[in-house]
Formats: sequence, C-alpha cells, structure tokens
Amino acid sequence: MMTRITGQYVRQNTTDEQVQAFIPYPLPPRDPPLQLNAKIQALLHEAEQALIRLDLAGDMVPSLDWFLYAFVRKEAVLSSQIEGTQATLVDLIAFEAQPAHTVPNQDVEEVCNYITALTYAREQLSSPTGLPLSNRLLNETHKRLMAGVRGANKLPGEMRRSQNWIGGTRPGNAMYVPPPPQILHDVMGDFERYFHADDDLHPLLRAGLLHVQFETIHPYLDGNGRLGRLLVSLLLEHWGLLKKPLLYLSLYFKRYQTLYYQHLNIARTDGDWERWLIFFLEGVITVANEATQCARSLFALVGEDRIRLMAHQHVHIAALRLFELLPRHPLITVASGIALIHATKPTVGRAVDILMDAGILVETSGRKRDRIFSYQRYIDVLRQEVD
Ligand SMILES: Nc1ncnc2c1ncn2[C@@H]1O[C@H](COP(=O)(O)OP(=O)(O)OP(=O)(O)O)[C@@H](O)[C@H]1O
Ligand SMILES: [Mg+2]
Repeated sequence: MMTRITGQYVRQNTTDEQVQAFIPYPLPPRDPPLQLNAKIQALLHEAEQALIRLDLAGDMVPSLDWFLYAFVRKEAVLSSQIEGTQATLVDLIAFEAQPAHTVPNQDVEEVCNYITALTYAREQLSSPTGLPLSNRLLNETHKRLMAGVRGANKLPGEMRRSQNWIGGTRPGNAMYVPPPPQILHDVMGDFERYFHADDDLHPLLRAGLLHVQFETIHPYLDGNGRLGRLLVSLLLEHWGLLKKPLLYLSLYFKRYQTLYYQHLNIARTDGDWERWLIFFLEGVITVANEATQCARSLFALVGEDRIRLMAHQHVHIAALRLFELLPRHPLITVASGIALIHATKPTVGRAVDILMDAGILVETSGRKRDRIFSYQRYIDVLRQEVD
C-alpha cells in the first residue's frame, strides 16, 4: 500500500464552529511519484485494448449518430440515478417523441440536461473557435447541466462562494470538508494547468487522477459528481482514446457506489492513488466491454430487422426510410412519422403497417386514435442494463 501526503488542512470558521478544510496539492502525485507497478501496467494495457475494441464497435455501426445517442442517454440515466432520479428510458424516449411545447418532468429534464451539457462541451472542444479545455468550459458545461428547476439555487455555471461539505448535516460533522471558497480560484487554476501539463503519464491515468482531484475540490455547490464523470468521457475523447464518448463509467460507479466513495476518500487521506487507479482501470475495462457488447447487440438487431423488412412482400421506400430513423426515434406516431420522412399520412400509415407486420414496430398505447408505435426490441436491448 502506498501512502503520501496529498494536501494540507486549514482551519475554517463556519457559522458557529471551526472545521478543518482540505487543500489538495496540485497533480500529479509526488513524494513518491506514481508507482506504476505490474498490476497497474497490466490493467492499463487491458483497458487500452478494451477501448480500441469499443472504438471499433462504434465504427461497425452504420449510423454512429444513433449509437452515440443511445449511449449518452444510457450514461445520463445511470448518472442521474446516483442522485435518485427516477426517469426510465421509456420516459425519456416518450418525452423526446412529444411535441416541443410539453414540459418535461424534473427527472427527464435532468437527464436531458446531461446530454445537452455533454454535446455542448464536445462541440466547443471540436470547434476551432470553441472554448479550450479550461475552467471556463467547465463552468459553461455546468450551467447546462444544472439548468432548470432543481439546479436554479445551486449557482449553475459558477464556482461556489461558500464552504461546502460531503456527508453529514453541516461542516462540523461532515465526512469531508473541501477547500475554502476563497482559495478555490488558485486550486482550480492548478487543476486547469494539469489538463495541459507536459508529463509522460498515460492519458487514461491522467483522466483518472483528474476525476478524483475534481471531486476533492468539489468546486460547485451541486453537480460535482455528474460533471466529474462527464469530464472523464470528455477527456478520453479529447485525448484520442475514443472517437466518441462511448464509455459510460457511471454504470460502474453506480454499481459500486460505496467502494467508489471509499476510493475517493482513500486517494485523499492516504494518498493511495495507485489503489484508486486500479479501481478506475477495472471500471474502464468492465464498462468498455459491456458497451462493446451492447453495441454489437444493437448492431445485430438492426441488421436482422433490416433484412427482414427488405424481404417483406409489400416493402416500399417510405417504410425503409422510416425504419432507418427508428433507432433515433424509437417511439413514433403517424404524425411524428410524417414530420420525419416528409411523406403523406397514407404513406406513413402504410409504412407503419408494414413495420408492424414485419415484427419491428409494436403498438403500445392501446388507443384507437393517436396511437404510439415503439421499436420494442431495440428499447429492450438498451434497457437491459439501464433499468
Ligand atoms: N468522500 C468523498 N470524497 C470526495 N468526493 C466524494 C466523496 N463522496 C462522494 N464524492 C463525490 O461527490 C459526488 C456528489 O457530489 P454532488 O452532489 O455535488 O454531485 P451530483 O452530481 O449532484 O451527485 P451525484 O454524483 O450523486 O449524481 C459523488 O458523485 C462523488 O463523485
Ligand atoms: Mg448532488
């Protein structure tokens, strides 16, 4: 077991008590430097291989667009469940299938925010005129993540100006008290510099270190967990380990939440970064393999359904076009179908009939009017791991 001192404690006065707030030293770990023992090396190698396979599985899919959409949403659902969000995959899809003026319930809103925030950050990073990897980018992403009712009083888009704490009901009985607000600027300055640091650590390890450091600093009043996990996805793509943010680590952190919190603690209190990295790399391997498997299942399902549809005796071009849009719109109505493929009502009606007859769409509303059709088996594959 490795031990290091990872920062210092400062006395901080809160309303009527004194607490010890923690100020982490800048990354990377020092005294001693990170010990990349045989176990970490082996896991790192395995994780790299798993990411390569995942990247290829992403390429295998004819429309990367819908594949990504499914995974981002999957991560969003899981990520938000840690916070207690109840939106199911079907709720989300149903919401997205509705006209723009409907008001989402809070759970759905939270999940949609995650996708909006991730999409925003990726666009900034990939655009020559966008924000670079920086605290400003984090703030802007946080603003989108926390938009809406629940986040409104949590300073969306701004770092905190007050003392926060983790666990307990007040700083005095907390499990951990992050850095005082007045030095956040400096601490986050160091954090930001490490994005661009010229050290020879593998980017995957750097992403793992940055995640812990971010949670230790806890720069926002809320949403630190969500943004800290989003950051990992972003970094892996930005540093060229994946072409798309296909890795949904939240699944792993959710499954092992107690262990996850313990490891965050141990990295800080004992300086055992190596132990954290082992946990982190095992997570990367597990979820990358699961994502690869899920990508293959989705790919196989859509491929089989396409063949079946093409073999249908009444198939026509409108049915095929509608089918290709289903992975992005797994719940449709005749009205939404009209908007999707710009065809007449009778044409869309016939396309839906053919898709039902081919066993691809299922009517799920039980109504006579305004019926809803779902690409049920596709939703089932996605749901297998989410719900
Ligand atoms: N002991 C700890 N030390 C450091 N960080 C911790 C500790 N326990 C939990 N955390 C981190 O704090 C996050 C929760 O902080 P916060 O409520 O600001 O984020 P969130 O995005 O709203 O929550 P969640 O992660 O539950 O969705 C956890 O997800 C975890 O990453
Ligand atoms: Mg929270």
